Amino acid sequence: MSPSERFKALKGMKDIFAPDIFVWQKVESLARKIFSSYGFQEIRPPIAESTSVFTRSIGENTDIVEKEMYTFEDKGGRSVSLRPEGTASIARCYVENHLYNLPSPQKFYYTGPMFRYERPQAGRLRQFYQIGAEAFGSQLPETDAEVLSMLRHFLTGLGLKTLHFQVNSIGDEKCRPVFRQALLDFFGGRLDDLCDDCKRRYRINPLRILDCKVPRCIEARKGAPKVTDYLCSECRAHFDRFLELLGLLEIPHTVNPDMVRGLDYYTRTTFEVTSENLGAQNAVAAGGRYDRLVKEFQGPQTPAIGFAVGIERIVELLKLTGEHMLPTPDAFIASMGQRAGNEGLRMADRLRQGGLWIETGDYASSLKSQMRKADRLSARCVFILGDDELTTGRVKWKKLADSSQGEVALSGVPDFLLGLSRKSQE
Ligand code: HAM
Repeated sequence: MSPSERFKALKGMKDIFAPDIFVWQKVESLARKIFSSYGFQEIRPPIAESTSVFTRSIGENTDIVEKEMYTFEDKGGRSVSLRPEGTASIARCYVENHLYNLPSPQKFYYTGPMFRYERPQAGRLRQFYQIGAEAFGSQLPETDAEVLSMLRHFLTGLGLKTLHFQVNSIGDEKCRPVFRQALLDFFGGRLDDLCDDCKRRYRINPLRILDCKVPRCIEARKGAPKVTDYLCSECRAHFDRFLELLGLLEIPHTVNPDMVRGLDYYTRTTFEVTSENLGAQNAVAAGGRYDRLVKEFQGPQTPAIGFAVGIERIVELLKLTGEHMLPTPDAFIASMGQRAGNEGLRMADRLRQGGLWIETGDYASSLKSQMRKADRLSARCVFILGDDELTTGRVKWKKLADSSQGEVALSGVPDFLLGLSRKSQE
């Protein structure tokens, strides 16, 4: 590590602070509100797990497990990994804590950092945050539609409009092997046309060839079999009903049979939400069904479905739309002289107890410089306290937005501020 890197954040890891943090808070609080209205409860699994939790679920031969995990040996000699995603941990927690004994479906949401050692670029980080949701215990396509509807409700609630919902079904353990064989037959005669990664994928997981971004592979897969033509009757019925429900809930979508996900645990429904305003890393959210995962962790056969949203990408989109409002102090108290400063401090304390955001000036500074500070903070209202105000018990106020001013009794300040915030909400 070079001396200049020693005291810097690691590559691909970012500090998050104002003003961005306000956008993050808005995103997280809307998620909590909306997910709760669908009956999802917060869950907080640890950030590190036994490596096998991820290798077993995400799949030994996926990019995430092969190349991207932060894996280390702890002091007790155990192989530990920082979580690259949330689903595996939640499924592990569901089994370990026998949550399957509770009434179904059990619905959870989580938010927090994930870690993948990827090549950092715009929208792709090594520590990134997800908000995810997982529902266990329902195999109904109604649940798939409800989960997608919740995701849409959340994204549109944030004010995001130009999003594309792509959906697919990748079948189950009954029909996927047939599709896999069809892919092997198709690509068998075209191996020389594929990139080196896809030559390897051909042997390990030929489905992954379908979403390779290398131009020669895009060319080579023209005319390749489509998974949706190979679904068994149960998977077909599930998918058809899911699509019908998307129509019923008026969720615009496209069926994309080439959308295969980079994690092995998926069965049947998969989906991705993309935005054209994000460049190469354009997926803002993704998810799907994983009906075998709980069993993989030695729990009872339990169908499940979920998704995760990439918070950085959502925040980026919100910053582009410019629709987010940064919070500003409800009031700034400027005071002249120590006595007025004392009163200002007392007044600020009382108002803060009522939940208001109050900033105070330095009574030893000039009124002009205190006003400049209030202006920089965009305080909605400034109160000016001096000896006269202490004598009369009335305080001067000034609204910075329209320069209107007046006086109010010291005891009437809380009501005055309440009135201001009511007006601004109208
Ligand atoms: P995923 O597609 O790997 O799925 O990630 C979900 C979302 O996380 C992506 O659509 C993207 O917005 C964000 N994301 C992924 N990697 C990065 C990165 N390196 N930098 C920034 N953002 C990133 C999952 O993680 C599954 N666990 C989703 C799921 C939940 N499926 C079922 N339940």
